[in-house]
Amino acid sequence: MHSPKLTSNGGLAPLLLPLLRLLPLAAASTLESCLESYSVPFNEQNTTAWDNDAAPFNTRLPYVPAAIAVPLTTAHIEDAIRCAVEFGVKVNPKSGGHSYASLGLGVLDTRVYVADEFSILASSVGIGGHVLHGGFGMSSFTHGLALDAITALTVTLANSTTVRATASDHPDLFWALRGAGSSMGVVSEFEFATFEPPEELTHFEVQLGWNDTESVVEGWLELQKWGEEEMPREMNMRFGVDGRGVRLDGLYHGGLEDAEEVVLPLVERLGGGLFTGNVTYDWLGQLKGYAAGEPINSTRPYRAHEKFYAKSLTTRALPRAAIESFTDYFFNNASTFLSDIGGGDFPGRVWWLLIDIQGGANSRISEIPAESSAYAHRDKLLLFQFYDRVFFGDYPEDEAEGYALLDGFVESVTSKLDEDDWGMYVNYADPRTEGVAEEVYYRQNVGRLREVKAAVDPTDVFYNPLGIKPAEVSKDDS
Ligand SMILES: *[C@@H]1O[C@H](CO)[C@@H](O)[C@H](O)[C@H]1NC(C)=O
Ligand SMILES: *[C@@H]1O[C@H](CO)[C@@H](O)[C@H](O)[C@H]1NC(C)=O
Ligand SMILES: *[C@@H]1O[C@H](CO)[C@@H](O)[C@H](O)[C@H]1NC(C)=O
Ligand SMILES: *[C@@H]1O[C@H](CO)[C@@H](O)[C@H](O)[C@H]1NC(C)=O
Ligand SMILES: *[C@@H]1O[C@H](CO)[C@@H](O)[C@H](O)[C@H]1NC(C)=O
Ligand SMILES: *[C@@H]1O[C@H](CO)[C@@H](O)[C@H](O)[C@H]1NC(C)=O
Repeated sequence: MHSPKLTSNGGLAPLLLPLLRLLPLAAASTLESCLESYSVPFNEQNTTAWDNDAAPFNTRLPYVPAAIAVPLTTAHIEDAIRCAVEFGVKVNPKSGGHSYASLGLGVLDTRVYVADEFSILASSVGIGGHVLHGGFGMSSFTHGLALDAITALTVTLANSTTVRATASDHPDLFWALRGAGSSMGVVSEFEFATFEPPEELTHFEVQLGWNDTESVVEGWLELQKWGEEEMPREMNMRFGVDGRGVRLDGLYHGGLEDAEEVVLPLVERLGGGLFTGNVTYDWLGQLKGYAAGEPINSTRPYRAHEKFYAKSLTTRALPRAAIESFTDYFFNNASTFLSDIGGGDFPGRVWWLLIDIQGGANSRISEIPAESSAYAHRDKLLLFQFYDRVFFGDYPEDEAEGYALLDGFVESVTSKLDEDDWGMYVNYADPRTEGVAEEVYYRQNVGRLREVKAAVDPTDVFYNPLGIKPAEVSKDDS
């Protein structure tokens, strides 16, 4: 425990604590002594606690924060932000720590970050980032994005004021927090509407026989048509592509017999396939299933670490030309990067991609009005995640050997689309979108988000390179 360092006429700490909040900040000479003067807990450098909290999920992107505050109360958050503003450093909140771009650690080695003690969701994803920027998962087709369940948020703003935002109190802020939360403030309390879980959920996987351009293109078109028109509300499904081929992976909110009625005819239409794992669970069972052996209850310190580059894409149903272009790239270009761990031209390197069916006639995500939150992609059918990981050594520095693999995948699709037909999902943050980040992640919402940002954080205290920039104050009053 740090005792506050006071001037020579200081007395007993308990008596003086209330006064500390009134001390002129000039009394503190460093960021950490400022935190200390406000009794905000923080990590000392070169301690195990610092090392644990500063360790990135994506070890390709390590950053050294200017300071690490570990607030336990809302007042601590307010005071940590006060100190950061006073010392001219930016504030990045960190919840679980699963950011693909290490956004919770600051990015230019000049950030204080505010670590929260929030619970961690299955597979090491913290609730803060997941929920504030979308929150897609294997129940989203049925129940919507995680942010759709939010009813109220308690948030500390750049001026160290804490407010509770709801649809009726601070409605613009409530709108902006649900989609672009990390640019607006530090959320310390989430209130959610809940739903009754089904008694049974059925998980299944199908290895599809798509092994050449024609089977992929025809199968993909058929799958899109089914997703747009027929996929029932109870189904949640994605297809995955990696070096071994194409797989369906689904979670049906219901029992096995009902799931079979949906899945078997679909697989027939897709050219047949091999069922590799279907199992019926209760709610906790399916969470444990997707956590793949990791504890589903929050554990600290954070132990998930991978070295990778990732990108994303959200699109409407793809036209044939875009699917053909993607498929060509898959067979002719991406396959040259294939390797089994320990062999091939790129030993220890593995890439995969997941394509979720997020929209469609029966999707809860599509049903919710687009203007209800800052999430920008409710009109999209597909949500892609591209992931390129090295298991040992460094990620290739040479662009042609490194980033080009996933850049080429994305380009193979976007080169065949109008800009209106695609976007990206900020929860699969790609630091190389800096400069176009607001556009690709927020599309039609950028203007309104910048206005809200200007109202609550005009000096960009909550800066991150992929975040929302404050609108310029207009010179004329019109
Ligand atoms: C932390 O350790 C490094 C390397 O040992 C050293 O250079 C640095 O001064 C230390 N910082 C503090 C605050 O002790
Ligand atoms: C793809 O699979 C089909 C059906 O199993 C088979 O007839 C065909 O030869 C395969 N094509 C390639 C390129 O492996
Ligand atoms: C479950 O697996 C069996 C084979 O083990 C298969 O016949 C059945 O169709 C599968 N059902 C679903 C819904 O995946
Ligand atoms: C998670 O932890 C809480 C508190 O320790 C406990 O009550 C709960 O049963 C745990 N949940 C699971 C699924 O282990
Ligand atoms: C894909 O591979 C072909 C054939 O090797 C090559 O001509 C083309 O430039 C590559 N495309 C990309 C985007 O790398
Ligand atoms: C802090 O900013 C919010 C949002 O602009 C505003 O509502 C509030 O009054 C401000 N608080 C203070 C103390 O100025």
